Amino acid sequence: MKKVLLALFIAMMFGSTMAYEPPDEGMWLPMFVERLNYVDMQEMGLQLTAEEIYSINNSSLKDAIVGLSGGGVGGFFCTGEIVSDKGLLFTNHHCGYNKIQSHSTVEHDYLKDGFWAMSLEEELPNEGMAASFLVRMEDVTDSIIPFLSDTLTESERSAEVRKIRTRLAKRAEEDGKYAARVSTFYGGNEFYLFVYTVYKDIRLVGAPPSSIGKYGGDTDNWMWPRHTGDFSIFRVYTGPEGESAEYAKENIPLKPAHHLPISLDGYKEGDFAMIWGYPGGTERFLTSFGIEYKLDAFLPTLIEIFNAQLQAWKAHMDADQAVRIQYASKYAGLANAWKLFIGQTRGLKRLNVYGKKQVIEEAFQNWADSSPETKEKYGNVLKNFEDSYAILTSEFPLLVYTALAANSPEILKYANQYSQLLELYNSKADDEIIDETIAQLKDGMAKHFKNYYAPADEDAFAALMEVYHTNVPIEKQPEYFLELLEDFDGNFVYLADYVFNNSIFDSEEQINVFLDKPKKKALAKDPALKLAADFQGLMGQVMGGYRTANAQIGEYNRLFIAGLREMSPDKVFYPEANSSMRMTYGSVQDYVAADAVFYDYYTTLAGVMEKEDASNDEFFVEEDLKILYANKDFGRYGEMIDGKERMIVCFLTTNDITGGNSGSPVINGKGELIGIAFDGNWEAMSGDITFEPELQRTINVDIRYVLFIIDKMAGAQNLIDELTIVDTPKTKMVKTINVETKTVTETSIN
Ligand code: ARG
Repeated sequence: MKKVLLALFIAMMFGSTMAYEPPDEGMWLPMFVERLNYVDMQEMGLQLTAEEIYSINNSSLKDAIVGLSGGGVGGFFCTGEIVSDKGLLFTNHHCGYNKIQSHSTVEHDYLKDGFWAMSLEEELPNEGMAASFLVRMEDVTDSIIPFLSDTLTESERSAEVRKIRTRLAKRAEEDGKYAARVSTFYGGNEFYLFVYTVYKDIRLVGAPPSSIGKYGGDTDNWMWPRHTGDFSIFRVYTGPEGESAEYAKENIPLKPAHHLPISLDGYKEGDFAMIWGYPGGTERFLTSFGIEYKLDAFLPTLIEIFNAQLQAWKAHMDADQAVRIQYASKYAGLANAWKLFIGQTRGLKRLNVYGKKQVIEEAFQNWADSSPETKEKYGNVLKNFEDSYAILTSEFPLLVYTALAANSPEILKYANQYSQLLELYNSKADDEIIDETIAQLKDGMAKHFKNYYAPADEDAFAALMEVYHTNVPIEKQPEYFLELLEDFDGNFVYLADYVFNNSIFDSEEQINVFLDKPKKKALAKDPALKLAADFQGLMGQVMGGYRTANAQIGEYNRLFIAGLREMSPDKVFYPEANSSMRMTYGSVQDYVAADAVFYDYYTTLAGVMEKEDASNDEFFVEEDLKILYANKDFGRYGEMIDGKERMIVCFLTTNDITGGNSGSPVINGKGELIGIAFDGNWEAMSGDITFEPELQRTINVDIRYVLFIIDKMAGAQNLIDELTIVDTPKTKMVKTINVETKTVTETSIN
């Protein structure tokens, strides 16, 4: 039902009269699935009961879905799923990348060679990694909205909301038993409480070599056809009683409430598929003015900055194995965002998202103007958006270039940590406080320098300072910076050379020498610290206008969404992604990418071999994999297609996901795992802003490829043994001819 309404609404919005296939759009809240989506899902092929997928009283599918974070429950960088009764967790390779890197050295390069624990003892603990399980969620709107008076300014309102949210969350935590958070929905028109159990002892169990887990590298990233085995494996540990506990050797594997069975049966085009996880953020209600701002200010600025930094790092990574490992994770993260922003720019333009938004806004304005009450409430919303976005567009570049100068060069960001110490000296603070600050700085030092290589940072610094200097009006640049630049005749390489030669902040050794005998003077004259302090100071000055406009946009957004919902009372609006648990359902589907370009819905190992390029490490193929392929040694993980034994690698579904969903389970109608979601596709990169039903696909790694790698490449039978594998015997049709009666009967045998 919901889908029909949605289709009507969209047909109305887009002025189209053609029959409309309901899109698989929507990131739905588990709590409402039964009411809003269940009937629809059943029709599409779901066989589980609503209670089996989401229940707060009994164990259900949701209990196998894990939010991954550094410790908190405010945002999840990725999703994982529990796949055994011993807390085994699958996620993406790119989600575990940072941890895989942290355990890697040139001698034990788990990024390059992969890592496999053949027993529990060999599993590697990870500092700063947590797995959160949703216990329950609750609508708390009525504990917040009625307590906000109409006369509050926007910033007073925010402060009040924050106070109540914190109080509600705290109460739900039951003195530390749980972690809780109240999140904002529909731009602040609704609020929901989420209560989690958070486990903090998460160990690395397995990762394929990057030549599998990151096959295709940045070239293939965000694109289909894809041949990446993007998975890694962790295990959740608990204290002896199953309680959440910090890492301790004697901790035991989690006994989960539910774990996902794994299907080796595969799927066909059109088969039902749902994805559960923690999408981070979408902007589906963004207006045409917001899109203008993105295209004119936000995207080009960030693309330029990221580009400068990536290029500088890359040269050093290519030249030195140790540096390649040190910078692997930061580089991958930045490169991923950089390509996303390029793709978004392209998508927003090509798909005329601006025009689509205008159609919605025209309908909204007409509706708003149609009665005095709505006019009073909503009549100016769009105009107000326009004015505030104009301010953002003009203020954003200055703010971001300044933030870039202050934070992007690692030396400045790091030096800035010492400005507090300098302030303490300046204010003649107690020795005790100074000693404490120094102890803290010493604590953080090894961690910073583990992944730091001064020559790479020096080149990045030079490039970034040039970007800054070129884009910011001279009168807004710090005096000290301009003086230095003049001293070096405008040469950024010399400038960088000077700063790095005269600062202590590019060297652990020099800082240690300093901290053993700290002198205020040394800090006060350090060029990196001076620059850092200047840029930080400017940040405060250029932030004001941006902040105000941004807060106003928040207010208009709340009104706009309220108005849209009032305008179409029968339409079910799903909320923007906000790092709370969501479910999206759709089907396995191919697509037409462009005129004359048809993309099938799955790729196979043959494609890995086709793409192989010995001269490019992004397309390196391991010898072992080639042998398995040559012998068609796919074990029970292959599939007969057109009479040939094939190993499927990746496949496409129509699910609606975004960043944060990485690592999410793709689940069939029986509640079994068929894949792990890991990416979106290039043709629909503006998908976070407008879902494109014809073009938008989720890219998943086939679970049979994952198991094939674990089993056949890694030989980790220990892991295969603990999974719950569903492998329905394949039936074959056998013809029997009865010569006497001259009839043919077909029977199926296993
Ligand atoms: N685009 C994927 C995401 O944002 C990340 C893929 C990582 N792979 C890579 N080659 N960087 O979830």
